Amino acid sequence: MHPISYPKNQRANIISKSVPGDKSISLRKSEDKMIAPGLQGFALMAGIVVDSALGSTVTDVDGNTYLDIIGGIGVGGIGHSHPKYIEALKVQLEKVAIGSFTSTARIELLQQLNEHRLHQNLNRIQFYSSGAEAVESAIRLAKNYTKKWELVSFWGGFHGKTQGALALMGSDFKNTYGPFSPGTHILPYANCYRCPFKMSYENKKCGLYCIEWARKQLKMELSSGGEGVAAFIIEPMQGTAGNVIPPIEFMVEVANLAKEFEALLIVDEMITGFGRTGLYWGSMHSQIKPDIITIGKQFAGGFPLSAIISSDEITAARPWSNPSGSSSSYGGNPLAMAAANAALKIINEEKLVENSNRVGKYFLDKIKDYPSRFPFIGEVRGQGLFLSIEMVSDKKNRTPLSKEKCNLIFDQFLKRGLLTMSYTGSFRIQPAMTIDTATVDNIVAIMDEVFESLRNELCCQ
Ligand SMILES: Cc1ncc(COP(=O)(O)O)c(C=O)c1O
Repeated sequence: MHPISYPKNQRANIISKSVPGDKSISLRKSEDKMIAPGLQGFALMAGIVVDSALGSTVTDVDGNTYLDIIGGIGVGGIGHSHPKYIEALKVQLEKVAIGSFTSTARIELLQQLNEHRLHQNLNRIQFYSSGAEAVESAIRLAKNYTKKWELVSFWGGFHGKTQGALALMGSDFKNTYGPFSPGTHILPYANCYRCPFKMSYENKKCGLYCIEWARKQLKMELSSGGEGVAAFIIEPMQGTAGNVIPPIEFMVEVANLAKEFEALLIVDEMITGFGRTGLYWGSMHSQIKPDIITIGKQFAGGFPLSAIISSDEITAARPWSNPSGSSSSYGGNPLAMAAANAALKIINEEKLVENSNRVGKYFLDKIKDYPSRFPFIGEVRGQGLFLSIEMVSDKKNRTPLSKEKCNLIFDQFLKRGLLTMSYTGSFRIQPAMTIDTATVDNIVAIMDEVFESLRNELCCQ
């Protein structure tokens, strides 16, 4: 029997005359008077006010139920409101929620994480609240350990919005926030659908030219006075850049490059961790051995929790390892520990990593003919429940579909009860790992209907 305890074959159900409905519109108006601008784009665009959620569905205050393939952008691994998760948090709240003393909840979590060590040396864990905070800590640790300060990151990379993490960001989002710390080098990532060198990886024709270029570029930049690289930081598959899946050899070569430059390798597993890509860790696909990993997102089932994991030797570096050197106000608090304990138990007991792999393949299989069916779809790809659809205005040049057309698609999905990230050309899909194939069928039926209905409007040439 399938171990997942969620309702299966979940469906959308739109009952209000328009979407968003009247109650949502009115509540949003009152919020808009007070909340600062800059909320997540899809929440602003949807305009709904969420009342409750279960598994892969979200219900708004007007009684509309949506299928959710945003999943809190990788936070919702165990789905919404899992009963075992709710119970675990209630129990912990009644005991203790504040403080960073040792708790049985923390010991239990350390033991659980220990059972899923990416490799033998990754045995020391420190907890934080947000992904960016964990990334900042990883950078501090790498600098302390190597006594160097230069850093390497990658085009398209996203590691958070704090000042140190912004410096590593591989997009123009960071414009206006500089100057950043000197000695940051941003190298091309193997986003093969949009190869920075306009080459083709097919049959390894390009010979991973991006790595060759990176090596040369780095040597040239470092020779201008740098003392050397403290760390490379990379996502094993890039989330924000559009659920980009590089060739396995690329990650292997990045790991080699880090060694060549005597730098630590930090792998940011924030999005790819805990089964999202069909294996427990994203690094497992290429079997690389990072020196530090950063984790978060679906780690604690929705409760804000992140961490870094490294070795005895590296985490002994000072002053990071001094008392209060690597701590934070909320780091390792008992409520967060209980939330993660529950989430990780659910992932194990309900075999969600296997489910992510199996249902992810099913999902990809259902949409794999989109590029041949629709003139505005250039590629579909996926690894586990980490999928992407490239929506383009021009298949030859792979020009992303215009913002206006993407918004139209987003609205049509919304009206039919599907919450998506289709508001940009690289349409990212990451549903709850509890999802079943019947629910995927219901999602794909809406996707088929919307893409068919907009065929003429989206068609370009
Ligand atoms: C790979 C990666 N690292 C770090 C972060 C930052 O996490 P947070 O938003 O919790 O600070 C994100 C957020 O999307 C991410 O995708």
